Amino acid sequence: MKKVRVSHILQKKRDQEKLLVLTAYDYYFGRLLDEAGVDMILVGDSLGNVFSGHETTLPVTVDQIIYHCQAVCRGAKRSLVVADMPFMSYQVNVDDAKRNAGRLVKEGGAAAVKIEAVSMDVSVFESVVQMGVPVMGHIGFTPQGVHQLGGYRVQGRSEEQVDQLCRLAESLAKAGCFSLVLEMVPSAVAQRISSLVDIPTIGIGAGQYCDGQILVTQDVLGMSFGDAPSFVRPYDQLTDRIRTALSGFQSDVKSLVFPSIDQQFS
Ligand code: KIV
Repeated sequence: MKKVRVSHILQKKRDQEKLLVLTAYDYYFGRLLDEAGVDMILVGDSLGNVFSGHETTLPVTVDQIIYHCQAVCRGAKRSLVVADMPFMSYQVNVDDAKRNAGRLVKEGGAAAVKIEAVSMDVSVFESVVQMGVPVMGHIGFTPQGVHQLGGYRVQGRSEEQVDQLCRLAESLAKAGCFSLVLEMVPSAVAQRISSLVDIPTIGIGAGQYCDGQILVTQDVLGMSFGDAPSFVRPYDQLTDRIRTALSGFQSDVKSLVFPSIDQQFS
């Protein structure tokens, strides 16, 4: 079992080997994803939606990411664990960003952090990298900017936006980011960015030309309520299966089928 390092992630782009990235918020999925061979596990602030039931990722705190990251790290011995920097943990000033990134590594056990890029100012990214913490950038649709972006929308539709995304991607690579999440951008734009930078691009709703793909694990497994986003392909429908299992338990208890002789002490 060889631990995945940032150098391996960079090498995979050079080798044109697709990177596999999924989210986890607990020990169980940390361990399952690790055993399944994913390269990186993101303790995403999507836990605000998926785990806590919030409408957006905005209420998530650094302490919550640390708590979930610790649990994931107990299960993930091989995959590289990336902790998301939640809203207000890096936006106010660079000192905050450094302190919070440091906490995610020191207390959470993460090997890297992910930061959403909200403007062309990449000084936060540069400073966190310089203090020795690997940074994954996140551009395109950035969920922490949901109110400013006017909802969950594809980014990079106009020439001006595409130009801006390309320049931002180049600046983040120059600032020292080791990878770049591209969320909800047209596949041609993702292709252009992927060939522009020598760090791997990890797409979510960004098409087939990215160097890797990331999805929320619960979406991949069909473990959510209602329809998953259109860019997701669910590989199972676990919500339905869990409901069936729960109703089996309920009817067995009511009809005295459970516990049977095998599930009781004599
Ligand atoms: O928070 C998250 O899970 C994410 C990914 C889905 C990219 O940011």
